[in-house]
Amino acid sequence: MNTPTAPHTPPSVFAVRDLWKVFGPKADRVPGDAGLAALDAAGLRARTGCTAAVRDVSFDVRKGEVFVVMGLSGSGKSTLVRCLTRLIEPTSGTISIDGEDVLSMDAGRLRELRRHRAAMVFQHFGLLPHRSVLDNVAYGLEIQGVGRAARRERAAEFVTKVGLEGMEHRRPGQLSGGQQQRVGLARALAVDPEVLLFDEPFSALDPLIRRDMQEEVVRLHREEGRTMVFITHDLSEALRLGDRIALMRDGRIVQLGTPEEIVGSPADDYVRDFVRDVPREQVLTVRAAMRPARSTESEAGPALAPDATVHEAIEAVARTGETARVVQDGRCLGVVDQAALLGVVAGVAAPAGKAAA
Ligand SMILES: Nc1ncnc2c1ncn2[C@@H]1O[C@H](COP(=O)(O)OP(=O)(O)OP(=O)(O)O)[C@@H](O)[C@H]1O
Ligand SMILES: [Mg+2]
Repeated sequence: MNTPTAPHTPPSVFAVRDLWKVFGPKADRVPGDAGLAALDAAGLRARTGCTAAVRDVSFDVRKGEVFVVMGLSGSGKSTLVRCLTRLIEPTSGTISIDGEDVLSMDAGRLRELRRHRAAMVFQHFGLLPHRSVLDNVAYGLEIQGVGRAARRERAAEFVTKVGLEGMEHRRPGQLSGGQQQRVGLARALAVDPEVLLFDEPFSALDPLIRRDMQEEVVRLHREEGRTMVFITHDLSEALRLGDRIALMRDGRIVQLGTPEEIVGSPADDYVRDFVRDVPREQVLTVRAAMRPARSTESEAGPALAPDATVHEAIEAVARTGETARVVQDGRCLGVVDQAALLGVVAGVAAPAGKAAA
């Protein structure tokens, strides 16, 4: 597939290298012992009584992206994200935030990391039942030592931002599940963290409210450009929210890429199986179907941006009956025709190939 290389990759917020988290007796010896490290989950448990929840994982979370960690139950998602702020102490490896070594932070620095720099939004986020919505949202500011008037003013701003205006004085018990989740989100946002860490925040919500909250996250991300790490075991949620997705299996990252890379070029059979039912035309872009223009093709036909989905291209081609042009900055990068678009949907290469400009 044609993977566009970004001209300037944003700086890393988190940089994680060779990270292991092993639970169990004498866990420390596992990462450094090639024989033990090579065992699968059952083998390792039988030999040592240990579970390797995170196995030799390396990745960067870039500034401004939504980085999704996806995988089945037990694949290590929560453990991995909790290691980022040492809510779980890693067994080995390195983690840094903005270049600062997280593993050598003292208690004070860690507290500052968790309160100001990387706020976590949990599925069950423990709203304080006897406090109003406003005071729940203000809570993070309160433990930062922000004065009452200032924190309530700021909390009110975020209550509005997540669509709970008029409910400031209710208690959590007087809200629906989705509304409570919004309170949790507002509370995390109010402390203005550099990174928001979400651990399956929406999995308890019914599908419609869940969709609503996903759109809320997308909107907040777009408006504020905030960096987010978002855990989910729901593939469509991952594809909807993620700029990049790390797909985990048994503690390892088996593939890390854009939704288009994961769906268009699965790294192995496991990933292929995982994404089998994804409507490819809604995830893949016209780049996957593009070929060079022949003779006059670059002058006529509907114009599409390079990041238009195959779905959008099908619409344009069906509507006009013409080959569509992929245009960027007034330049025709290539064209997509019916055969190529069908090829993408069917998961086979079009006969003409998929050469890019
Ligand atoms: N404190 C612990 N002690 C021992 N094993 C643990 C501990 N915490 C997690 N594990 C194990 O580590 C593995 C990864 O767990 P983790 O909670 O990270 O998975 P997950 O991907 O978040 O799953 P889920 O989708 O169910 O939340 C599992 O096999 C789990 O049983
Ligand atoms: Mg979990």
